[in-house]
Amino acid sequence: MRSLTIIIGCLATVVFAHNVTSGEHTEGQQYEGESLVWTPCPVSPTLDSDHQLECSHLLVPMDQFNRSNNGFNNEKHFNISLIRLRGKNATANGNINILLNPGGPGGSGMGFVYSHGERLNAIVGENFNLLSFDPRGVNSSTPYVKCYPTPGNQTLASQNSFRGTDPYNLTESSGNYWASSLIYTQACKQTMGEHGEYINTPQTAADMNSILDAVGQDALYYWGFSYGTILGQTYATMYPDKAKRVIIDGVANEFDWYTSFIDPEASDDTDKVFYGFVEECIKAGNESCPLAQLAETKEELTEKLLTTIWALRSEPAPVYVDNTVSGLVGFPDVWYKAVFKALYGPSGWPALAAALAPLVQGNATAFFLQYMLPSAAKAYNDYNEPDANTFVRYNDGVSGPARSPSTREELIPVILNGTNNTMFGSQEWADYFNKRSWAIPQTFSFVPERGVRTAHPLLILSTTYDPVCPLISARSANDAFVGSRLVEVQGYGHCSLAVPSDCINDIVSRYFSEGVLPDSNVVCAPNLPLPYFPAPESSSSGASSPVNTTGQGY
Ligand SMILES: *[C@@H]1O[C@H](CO)[C@@H](O)[C@H](O)[C@H]1NC(C)=O
Ligand SMILES: *[C@@H]1O[C@H](CO)[C@@H](O)[C@H](O)[C@H]1NC(C)=O
Ligand SMILES: *[C@@H]1O[C@H](CO)[C@@H](O)[C@H](O)[C@H]1NC(C)=O
Ligand SMILES: *[C@@H]1O[C@H](CO)[C@@H](O)[C@H](O)[C@H]1NC(C)=O
Ligand SMILES: *[C@@H]1O[C@H](CO)[C@@H](O)[C@H](O)[C@H]1NC(C)=O
Ligand SMILES: *[C@@H]1O[C@H](CO)[C@@H](O)[C@H](O)[C@H]1NC(C)=O
Ligand SMILES: *[C@@H]1O[C@H](CO)[C@@H](O)[C@H](O)[C@H]1NC(C)=O
Ligand SMILES: *[C@@H]1O[C@H](CO)[C@@H](O)[C@H](O)[C@H]1NC(C)=O
Ligand SMILES: *[C@@H]1O[C@H](CO)[C@@H](O)[C@H](O)[C@H]1NC(C)=O
Ligand SMILES: *[C@@H]1O[C@H](CO)[C@@H](O)[C@H](O)[C@H]1NC(C)=O
Ligand SMILES: *[C@@H]1O[C@H](CO)[C@@H](O)[C@H](O)[C@H]1NC(C)=O
Ligand SMILES: *[C@@H]1O[C@H](CO)[C@@H](O)[C@H](O)[C@H]1NC(C)=O
Repeated sequence: MRSLTIIIGCLATVVFAHNVTSGEHTEGQQYEGESLVWTPCPVSPTLDSDHQLECSHLLVPMDQFNRSNNGFNNEKHFNISLIRLRGKNATANGNINILLNPGGPGGSGMGFVYSHGERLNAIVGENFNLLSFDPRGVNSSTPYVKCYPTPGNQTLASQNSFRGTDPYNLTESSGNYWASSLIYTQACKQTMGEHGEYINTPQTAADMNSILDAVGQDALYYWGFSYGTILGQTYATMYPDKAKRVIIDGVANEFDWYTSFIDPEASDDTDKVFYGFVEECIKAGNESCPLAQLAETKEELTEKLLTTIWALRSEPAPVYVDNTVSGLVGFPDVWYKAVFKALYGPSGWPALAAALAPLVQGNATAFFLQYMLPSAAKAYNDYNEPDANTFVRYNDGVSGPARSPSTREELIPVILNGTNNTMFGSQEWADYFNKRSWAIPQTFSFVPERGVRTAHPLLILSTTYDPVCPLISARSANDAFVGSRLVEVQGYGHCSLAVPSDCINDIVSRYFSEGVLPDSNVVCAPNLPLPYFPAPESSSSGASSPVNTTGQGY
């Protein structure tokens, strides 16, 4: 049926590659020096592309670090999906592929190239190919992560799960969080079986070498966003000699990620971004930001917003349009699903302000229509991104009863203290209970290091105020990687793409093409007009550079 070849990669990892001269996909495209067959990708409605998009796949060993723990007869492998946007002049320049990771963990590289490929191509230019992949366990790679065999099974488990009376009082509800975590983590372990032990970042870093081998490329060119900075830092530490061009953008602290049960640093600037939303709204005035009509000052507006939203904890707002459209707008709907999400990128701020203004005035209908209708576009797929996120984070990090606070009573103060540096802290509580109860053992020995000397220094990018990956974490990476440079773009949002800046684009472009780094750390100005609350007349004309965020959870 299939013919498979085992190649010993240059780092003595085992690479499984299709024998491209036989069997399936003979109609596909092959390139010199590559062992892959590429076929045109399924057309995506979000892509307005004048570039060729091609897709392929690659079998990688289940365990990159133990060659006897693999094989095809017993299904011990992952099948990784690949996607590539070809630069129009890449062939004349050695066909170098820049690998991309969009974050998550659990984010789809396939989806990322569909949605952001053109924008990134405009930054790096036509001399490079952009290559991304659904990492092991993620989306179209197989087996993909899910904690329950079917969505029906998941619904059954969740309907009969949390029974807490007040989810915002940790002491009151800790018993429910605790008990729920015990069934969820069992399900994850059972459903994924042995593969579940190998869905972690060091394995994915090694998978990137399998990808490089398959495209005949010696050195890593890479741009990783958000969680992709953990992947990039991990790779650069494990394989420093191959790390030739590594950009980490919207940085998470790898030391906290791998060695700390609790991670308050990630929320260091979360509230500052919320206050920034309020401040920019007042500055923009009521023509651009409808919330501005409700208050004279940012303090007054903050007070009004928090009072309204906090009141929803005890009394959600009823919305009745008619007997086909009705429901309750509750605290988590507003504070987590709308406000917190909007902190990732200023492009969502005007819509949020337009929905919050009537809410504060007592009418929740606009909010409901904007944020709470089921998204018709969401394609059905029982791959579960939140579960994949859970797998990677807990498999990487300090998790499980033996490595965490052992009793419920010990856990409560640790969680409270670790999440009270932000007004958004309570959304993390259930997560920490699950992390504590995680049932899958850690199967790798990677530890982050300082003083890492890479083939070429890293380029590190950050906004000034990032809601989930603060500047302080970028500084930590800057300290860990010898010769690295930190470039900060002044503004709010997650990863540099949240705040368009020609200054950053030039630095990125020169880094990839010439290896040039700034002489010292620099601060870049954002392009004008600022993206927060564009004046009504400029919002249509000034849209030459779209400002969608990477859209990932971490
Ligand atoms: C690939 O398959 C062809 C035909 O089956 C065979 O002749 C060739 O030796 C195979 N190549 C490798 C590298 O296994
Ligand atoms: C490697 O995998 C084999 C097969 O699962 C196992 O028996 C062996 O103990 C593993 N070696 C290490 C060092 O984990
Ligand atoms: C790997 O996945 C691709 C689809 O992405 C599929 O066409 C191929 O048959 C799979 N290969 C194996 C060995 O499962
Ligand atoms: C294509 O790349 C070659 C080699 O680097 C360069 O000389 C040429 O100017 C490039 N063409 C375009 C259109 O960028
Ligand atoms: C998952 O992969 C499919 C291709 O198999 C792609 O069309 C889709 O966009 C991906 N999903 C997401 C969320 O990116
Ligand atoms: C759970 O999944 C199994 C298949 O694995 C199915 O037979 C069963 O009906 C599902 N149960 C529910 C409640 O959906
Ligand atoms: C939380 O719940 C506990 C136990 O029911 C109760 O003693 C405490 O007063 C509550 N705290 C708040 C802030 O409501
Ligand atoms: C909006 O602002 C303008 C000028 O700042 C003011 O004249 C107008 O009354 C405001 N509109 C509302 C509805 O507050
Ligand atoms: C609430 O707002 C909606 C529009 O979002 C409007 O149709 C409705 O009349 C308003 N309700 C009241 C009571 O003003
Ligand atoms: C967080 O809680 C701890 C006690 O658990 C307390 O000492 C600390 O002051 C609190 N920090 C904030 C910012 O509220
Ligand atoms: C509370 O958290 C801070 C960091 O946010 C940490 O420095 C401190 O040690 C923690 N205290 C306790 C009692 O866990
Ligand atoms: C940005 O996101 C919006 C809504 O999610 C979408 O309609 C739009 O097409 C996206 N734009 C780009 C350039 O991806």
